[in-house]
Amino acid sequence: NGQLVPWDGEVAEVYSPVYVPTEQGLKRKLVGTIPQVSPKESLEALDAAVAAYADGQGEWPTMSVEGRIACMQKFVYLMIQKRDQVIKLLMWEIGKSVADSTKEFDRTVVYINDTIDALKDLDRQSSRFEQAEGVLAQIRRSPLGVVLSMGPFNYPLNEIFTTLIPALIMGNTILFKMPKHGVLAHYPLLEAFREAFPAGTVNTLYGRGAEIISPLMESGKVNVLAFIGSSKVAVSLKKLHPKPNRLRAILSLDAKNAAIVTRNADLDVAVEEILLGALSFNGQRCTALKLVFVERQIADVFVAKLAEAVGALVPGLPWDKGVRITPLPEPDKPDYLKACLDDAVAKGAKIVNGNGGYTNQSMVFPAVVFPVNDQMKLYHEEQFGPIVPVVPFDSIEEPVRYQIGASHGMQVSIFSNDAAEVAQLIDPFVNLVSRVNINCQAQRGPDVFPFTGRKDSAEGTLSVFDALRSFSIRSLVATKSTEANKQ
Ligand code: G3H
Repeated sequence: NGQLVPWDGEVAEVYSPVYVPTEQGLKRKLVGTIPQVSPKESLEALDAAVAAYADGQGEWPTMSVEGRIACMQKFVYLMIQKRDQVIKLLMWEIGKSVADSTKEFDRTVVYINDTIDALKDLDRQSSRFEQAEGVLAQIRRSPLGVVLSMGPFNYPLNEIFTTLIPALIMGNTILFKMPKHGVLAHYPLLEAFREAFPAGTVNTLYGRGAEIISPLMESGKVNVLAFIGSSKVAVSLKKLHPKPNRLRAILSLDAKNAAIVTRNADLDVAVEEILLGALSFNGQRCTALKLVFVERQIADVFVAKLAEAVGALVPGLPWDKGVRITPLPEPDKPDYLKACLDDAVAKGAKIVNGNGGYTNQSMVFPAVVFPVNDQMKLYHEEQFGPIVPVVPFDSIEEPVRYQIGASHGMQVSIFSNDAAEVAQLIDPFVNLVSRVNINCQAQRGPDVFPFTGRKDSAEGTLSVFDALRSFSIRSLVATKSTEANKQ
């Protein structure tokens, strides 16, 4: 509610994935502490958001578009002052490289500025009158109410803001729950929210999601659930709402995107793009390429090239120059990845690159695994880590069958230089996933393009333009189209 609340309750310690020398030997560095709010405080924050919305009569939902834009511009101005601090915290907290942490911050600023421009466009359209069958109408965009925004650790700033910012600028009030990792990175910006927006408009929650989110959903006062994470959590959260028909859900969820490399591919291009797609931020992206299908007759050549390129990636600390592989923030991840690799090896696959899967503290060296088949965990699990499982295929029916059988449907990347073959491959996939990439990696951006998915991968669409629509409703002011009313 626009207040910095002094905290003497329970706190949680935040540890970096980066190890440092301590009296007890090398340990994850303690980088800060965060409050763990109780359900009671969580509900107080909800009350603040509900009061600020005030059934659509509050200062924020009734503010003019120009007024809301001015507040957002002030926020961006204040946010930019915190750039270095936020980038440094991203590196320490989630182990993201300096290049990627900088990109995450700058991309978020561009996203906010693009959102402001998109709202100006939308407002121009909404100011027009339309006429049909003797009815004259102005079709406006109105807010929906209280938005609960939650996102994952891999883009702790950017992904939460891809829902929070459009929801906010459309006149909704916000509750946002800090991600599991990457919490401190938000701290420098909280003061900016407080300075730029009316009290109660943006409310922040720190704590254990399982405890503090359930009461919010059960209250029935959350109008929009904006969640980026696992479909299992999304389904259980939605079920808690007493009136599901009054809840809008904007969700970006599970994926396990496939790459398909045919014998007609330029293998250098395929390797370069698959490296980016599979191993950027150590494979911790929902858009990552998580299964590579390669036509059997070129499989050995392709796998050798891929393994060589993966072996050359520079591991190191987030601030090291040219670093591509960095420590993983989830403490249990190295053991889980090892179990996936052991399972594949026990069932007949090999780790092709020499140091693949080697673990040093929180760092796991990327592994190319071949040949992978549908009996292995790596064929089915998203694994969200630096492993590239390669599956040989004889007929294109095989990757198509994989996608048909999958519970998700986000993206696919096709590598082939034969235009007729590409055209033939697009057709089956375009109705199974939400984006088909040709000779390039899978990714969310550019952020002006729609980002969604099929099956368990998404509900609703995000993008600079789509998000403004997702967090608002079209409402009409209508009258008879007489000459007098046209005035
Ligand atoms: O984790 C999922 C992100 O939306 C991926 O975004 O493709 O820009 O890395 P990206």
